[in-house]
Amino acid sequence: MKLQPLNIGDLTFQPYISASEIREKVEEMGQQIRERHAHSNPLFLVILNGAFIFAADLVRACQVPCEITFTRLSSYEGLSSTGQVETLIELNEDIKGRPIIIVEDIIDTGKTLSHFLPILQKSAPSSIEIAAFLVKREAMEYPLKIDYWGYEIPNDFVIGYGLDFDEKGRELPAIYQKVD
Ligand code: XMP
Ligand code: MG
Repeated sequence: MKLQPLNIGDLTFQPYISASEIREKVEEMGQQIRERHAHSNPLFLVILNGAFIFAADLVRACQVPCEITFTRLSSYEGLSSTGQVETLIELNEDIKGRPIIIVEDIIDTGKTLSHFLPILQKSAPSSIEIAAFLVKREAMEYPLKIDYWGYEIPNDFVIGYGLDFDEKGRELPAIYQKVD
């Protein structure tokens, strides 16, 4: 079935990455994580809200014993970064000495995570890795080592597969790109 463009508010979005392409890519990412973490019992730290769907698929694709927890950081409103990073849900787990895999839907400027990493480091995990489904390399202003990624995409706004435009579009099984 060919996906059609869709409208949210006065913006139009065109189909960009299909649900079956997403599935394949997440399987590959899961395999990469499995190669490194088959016996390490990693703690997946999922950044809400956007990463919840990707994380649900990724942890099942990994097929390794693991734990999962969530935090919420805020730096983004509407179509562009507001430039502030806030921790909206604090971590309860003791992460000392544990391998952490941060799960993000998309990395844009890199600001959110580059501000969050030093906060996380203070709790002395044994390692911190980053798994992001999408990376906007051209937009990156804060250098980040991304250990696992699905697609590198141009600097266009995308929705679907957990990603939203003002809270709309998260439920879409495919990813859509904003049409200019
Ligand atoms: P930074 O710039 O800190 O931003 O790397 C990361 C956060 O920004 C959000 N973001 C997007 N959300 N479509 C979205 O729905 C996009 O194209 C997009 N680009 C960035 C996202 O919440 C991510 O966690
Ligand atoms: Mg996000």
